[in-house]
Amino acid sequence: MTAQIIDGNALARKVREEVAGRTQALKAKGVQPHLAILLVGEDPASQVYVKHKVADSEQTGLKATLERHPATMSEADLLARVKALNEDPSVHGILVQLPLPKHMDSHRVIETISPAKDVDGFHVASAGALMVGQPGFWPCTPYGCLKMLDSIGYDLKGKHAVVIGRSNIVGKPMAMMLLGRDATVTICHSRTKDLAAFTRQADVVVAAVGKRDVLTRDMVKPGAVVIDVGMNRNDEGKLCGDVDFAGVQQVAGWITPVPGGVGPMTRAMLLANTIEAAERAAG
Ligand code: GUN
Repeated sequence: MTAQIIDGNALARKVREEVAGRTQALKAKGVQPHLAILLVGEDPASQVYVKHKVADSEQTGLKATLERHPATMSEADLLARVKALNEDPSVHGILVQLPLPKHMDSHRVIETISPAKDVDGFHVASAGALMVGQPGFWPCTPYGCLKMLDSIGYDLKGKHAVVIGRSNIVGKPMAMMLLGRDATVTICHSRTKDLAAFTRQADVVVAAVGKRDVLTRDMVKPGAVVIDVGMNRNDEGKLCGDVDFAGVQQVAGWITPVPGGVGPMTRAMLLANTIEAAERAAG
């Protein structure tokens, strides 16, 4: 058996088209959806990420404002900027790019963002809303993974999903989203003993550890859906995920590639959250 590929690039394009349509509809009502991005310092990876976020937004018709601040900025000044953006009715989404310089408390900064503008879905209020099934904003990566499952018409009801990784922004919210679809969910992590014993029972495996070859062919039930959240480099320096793609592809029913899988979906879901924030604000 060779797994079918879930094409993240193609699906992300569809999501962007849908966002572009909703953006046009809001603009017709006189509302320009607007994402404010705050970048503090000069982390090279962050610079690339924010550039993509601005370009993605503009391509979809969303306005994106990138505020660059020096690494020497005080936390108090950053909090003041976030509060000003909270109060600014022309701004619908606020994203503070992480990591922040070491002298700042990232948690305190994120908690200062208004939950109504928390398009990253990192605020405790957003996590709580997901937990209790109330409207809020879902973190972009697990939200994108769920969209990928939806794109193949996968019915999660009664299925066993194993999430490997317990981060606050991927593993834990992913588990909540899957539970919300009536799946049975097991959360494993890098220290789980006999991980294969869990994954071999899984109808769906989401790998989000950040380490190559976390999931190999022998660990996957034939026909399972495998979602690879990892972003690593192999020995040749090429981008790879957490999953041994070549091996797992031989047994899985569906698999997401790296690159071209979850990555583009994460980017697309930020746009989806931003248009959602603007629509909610517009009433
Ligand atoms: N740094 C790396 N990924 C992200 C993200 O999705 N959101 C923010 N705010 N910072 C990041």
